[in-house]
Amino acid sequence: MKGIILHGGHGTRLRPLTHTGPKQLLPIANKPMSQYGVEVLKESGIKEIAIIVGGIGSNKVREYYGDGEKFGVKFTYIEQDYPKGISHAIGLCKEFIQNEKFVVFLGDNIIQRSIKDYVAYFQNSNFDALLLLCEVDNPSRFGIADVKNEKILKIIEKPKNPPTNLAVTGIYFLTPLIFDIIEKLKPSWRNELEITDALDILREKNDKITYRMITDYWKDTGTPEDILNANSAILEKVIPYFDGKKEENVRLNGNVIVGKNTIIKDDVVINGPAIIGDDCIIEKKSIIGPNVSIGDNSVVSQCSIKNSIVMSDCEVKCNISIKDSIISKNSVIQTNQNNNEKIFMLGEGTKVYL
Ligand code: TTP
Repeated sequence: MKGIILHGGHGTRLRPLTHTGPKQLLPIANKPMSQYGVEVLKESGIKEIAIIVGGIGSNKVREYYGDGEKFGVKFTYIEQDYPKGISHAIGLCKEFIQNEKFVVFLGDNIIQRSIKDYVAYFQNSNFDALLLLCEVDNPSRFGIADVKNEKILKIIEKPKNPPTNLAVTGIYFLTPLIFDIIEKLKPSWRNELEITDALDILREKNDKITYRMITDYWKDTGTPEDILNANSAILEKVIPYFDGKKEENVRLNGNVIVGKNTIIKDDVVINGPAIIGDDCIIEKKSIIGPNVSIGDNSVVSQCSIKNSIVMSDCEVKCNISIKDSIISKNSVIQTNQNNNEKIFMLGEGTKVYL
């Protein structure tokens, strides 16, 4: 079987974070979110993967993933000229897929389980689609499957009156039959070729569509809150290690990762789960965590940070408490204020002086 990772899209809900690159490269626990999908595909035995790229970030994606050798897979890049929908993106892969069955993984979806069993099941089955469904609290935000007696009755995109709370996750097991359907598909009210429409037509056509439930963790990281949620979920499972240097009275509580050449100065407290990358400096008396990721080569001084992502090459030098924030690469925050709690959503290279 082959794989397809979708790395295009607008990413409007994540602006300003997506002004300088695709959302799928935003780091979760210091790793681009789409890499989790690449690793799940690889672990299931899928090594030939097409990456759909488009828009502002396509060079960054090619630069990061290269030909795939570093990741133990082979990547083929397919350019989408404009985000015309998930079905449109899949349709571009007809030649790449040829006659094989395949798995589509949306690059902003995170799961924490293997799909090996599903791959084996689908490979040997007669089905033209296997969907992974997950219960959600807010079904109107998702593509929803109406299911009765373990059979899919209908698939509807963002329904106003959802018949169930079973979201269709962004991991689809498909056969080349989907290409014939996509070729005839009409754009939706939002002018996109919807995957839910294609799947529902497939269901009407031959009913060879089935599903499995994801009962542990699934996140579609469309918003900043989703990204912070995924960050804490991934951090929860990390295996702690300490490759840096620490001075006097440093306290590390719970699962903490500290990368190489990182210096943790006097009286710093790190409450896990937390990850601090390589070559960072955490200055005296800072309190980091829980649920914090700090990228490589960043400096944090005298502040408290919780439930946040600070990307690489940042300087956070202030006396304030930062929470629920995402601070992109190369940003600077400096202030002399005291004891204020602040939330930041900063795009790349932002400078904030308070
Ligand atoms: P969405 O999150 O539904 O859309 P988006 O990325 O445009 O974001 P927003 O709604 O905030 O503007 O996309 C789901 C996934 O599919 C995501 O990984 C991006 C990818 N995608 C493409 O690769 N091509 C497309 O044409 C579309 C619409 C999405």
